[in-house]
Amino acid sequence: MQVLKTVAAFRAARAGCGDLGLVPTLGFLHEGHLSLVARARAENAAVAVSIFVNPTQFGPNEDLARYPRDLPRDLRLLEAAGVDLVFAPAPAEMYPPRFDLSIQVGGVTDVLEGAVRPGHFAGVATVVAKLFNIVQPTRAYFGQKDAQQCVVIQKLVRDLDMPVEVIVAPTVREADGLALSSRNSYLTPEQRAVAPAIFRGLLAAEALFDAGERDGDALRRAVRAAIEAEPQFSVDYISVADPETLAELDRAGACALVSIAARLGTTRLIDNILLG
Ligand code: PAF
Repeated sequence: MQVLKTVAAFRAARAGCGDLGLVPTLGFLHEGHLSLVARARAENAAVAVSIFVNPTQFGPNEDLARYPRDLPRDLRLLEAAGVDLVFAPAPAEMYPPRFDLSIQVGGVTDVLEGAVRPGHFAGVATVVAKLFNIVQPTRAYFGQKDAQQCVVIQKLVRDLDMPVEVIVAPTVREADGLALSSRNSYLTPEQRAVAPAIFRGLLAAEALFDAGERDGDALRRAVRAAIEAEPQFSVDYISVADPETLAELDRAGACALVSIAARLGTTRLIDNILLG
């Protein structure tokens, strides 16, 4: 496995790889990332993983400084997973002096996470566009846990005619339903114990939908009841939206994306489920 820190070194290493699958990450890897790596391994001649805590997608009061980092451990995991190339640039390599570009994907970035975290998706779209240009992947792999990010990246690729196939893989969960996330490491034992209420809320909405309920507010109420049964939670939003446009639905059609963002103390958790 080669670990490359500069764009020039990565380009030189990528040259002979043929079909390449890319798994972009912020590092501090968990089984969710490794499931994306395994899928990329199965579908491409070579696999690259990027590890970059992208400063432009964190707001001024967010957790950039304390975001967990452990590059030696990440590299051990990736070596064991059969990864060929790791791109782990320093911030100055990605954002040299006078870097002023910011990609605004539009529409789908204004709601949900975009409404609560202004500028977040411009940071994501910009860094992902740079990574796609540097890595030149055949396929790029993202987790369904960040459902809105997947929609934004699909739109970025479509609108800029990027020759990359975006693959969205299922959310990986702990046995009690909590979606894997590097930020779960912030939770105290007490917060960790109540965190699965988020998934219980999503399952409650799914059970109602499967029983024929299509009223958006009824589905939102089912999620809220499960989460607010745990008083430690503070809910940012509960959404029942069109999976492509992310527009809120009065009535769900054949399918709907149910998303939630909620805080336990200073830790913000997001999760979602696709209905239908
Ligand atoms: O989902 C993430 O880990 C990040 O948002 C990504 C896609 C690597 C961009 O920094």
